[in-house]
Amino acid sequence: MTVITNIEDLRVIAKRRVPKMFYDYVDSGSWTESTYRANESEFQKIKLIQKVARNMEGRTLKREMLGDMMSMPVCIAPTGLVGMVHPDGEILAARAASNFGIRYTLSTMSIASLEDIKREVNQPFWFQLYVMRDREFMLSLIERAKAAGCDALVITLDLQMIGQRHIDLKNGLAVPPKPTIRNWINLLTKQRWCWNMLKTKRRQFGNIVGYVKDIDDPSSLAAWTSQQFDPTLNWADIEWIKNAWGGKIILKGILDAEDAKHARDAGADAIVVSNHGGRQLDGALSSIEVLPSIVEALRGSNTEVFLDSGIRSGQDVLKAIALGAKGTMIGRSYLYGLGAYGEKGVTKALEIIANELDLSMAFCGLTDINQVDEKILVPSTIPNPFKMN
Ligand code: FNR
Repeated sequence: MTVITNIEDLRVIAKRRVPKMFYDYVDSGSWTESTYRANESEFQKIKLIQKVARNMEGRTLKREMLGDMMSMPVCIAPTGLVGMVHPDGEILAARAASNFGIRYTLSTMSIASLEDIKREVNQPFWFQLYVMRDREFMLSLIERAKAAGCDALVITLDLQMIGQRHIDLKNGLAVPPKPTIRNWINLLTKQRWCWNMLKTKRRQFGNIVGYVKDIDDPSSLAAWTSQQFDPTLNWADIEWIKNAWGGKIILKGILDAEDAKHARDAGADAIVVSNHGGRQLDGALSSIEVLPSIVEALRGSNTEVFLDSGIRSGQDVLKAIALGAKGTMIGRSYLYGLGAYGEKGVTKALEIIANELDLSMAFCGLTDINQVDEKILVPSTIPNPFKMN
């Protein structure tokens, strides 16, 4: 590995190694990408208070998320098509996460299946479910997630319609790939990727193909998925899914205090304050901006608040924890590592984040992540987008 010191280094290498259509799929937001950009830039506006001359030995980042001790308050967010970013990418990332002592979340739209992760990694992981019109198939996914040893179900609420990403349409993004001529030429320059792709059997949506009747070729799959995301989804469905699952549920995609209360009332064990990494409602506030209002809305309840969207450093994690998040999730930060160096790259991304988190916490005068609160932040820089002047 060349000298990698931050997530941006991994991004640059991933861009060289991953075929353009799949790199673009990762590194883009919807429409004007204003929310995508805000997710990162709003973190930068929050400032930390330095403290000196305190004993900084014996530091710990260990923190519980949903009752399980994580080596740091960061988990891997569900992302689709990971096996196209790097062949067998889901297995590699799940292995890296589990060796690091954090949870991996497998997306419904993954290339490797629930059974692949169970067989190849055999450690607890979370499963992300999209609410589909075919309730029978959803129930079968829930049963398969139980059999695979998943210890929480992440229900994504913000993708019943799909935010348009211009670049994916222009690239002809599909699984398996249907590249444009320019992208075919690009694919020929990614020999390592092509070679690894030839070696694996996993080139389709592993949770779906072979499990749904009449889906045996790419065009029937495309037609099925485009009809399946259920726009009638509502809070009553969540209670129904919670009962069918019988375990912990995490509701992902909450950006509003009133919705956070609905999630709590529907029995969420945790919510993820998330705008899907700026891939859905362009023009929505960044996750970190809305976090304080949601933490306030759920104060006193047992529903844990997680945050994702825009985390590219350990400092970003520290700021989210200071603003009241119990934990965080990362999407692109780990995908850049995966695209650059496979499993080693994911481990590198996690090490970078842990190291930055540890040192920044220490600069703020604290030795235990569980001591971190708003007092480490400069008050005038704490986001408050709903404040009336
Ligand atoms: C996602 N995300 C996502 N979320 C989900 O619930 N199911 C999914 O299948 C996907 N797929 C997906 C693919 C890619 C390429 C990205 C980048 C994201 C959203 C993801 O879980 C998370 O909310 C964001 O990635 C968080 O933002 P950052 O960390 O990427 O800035």
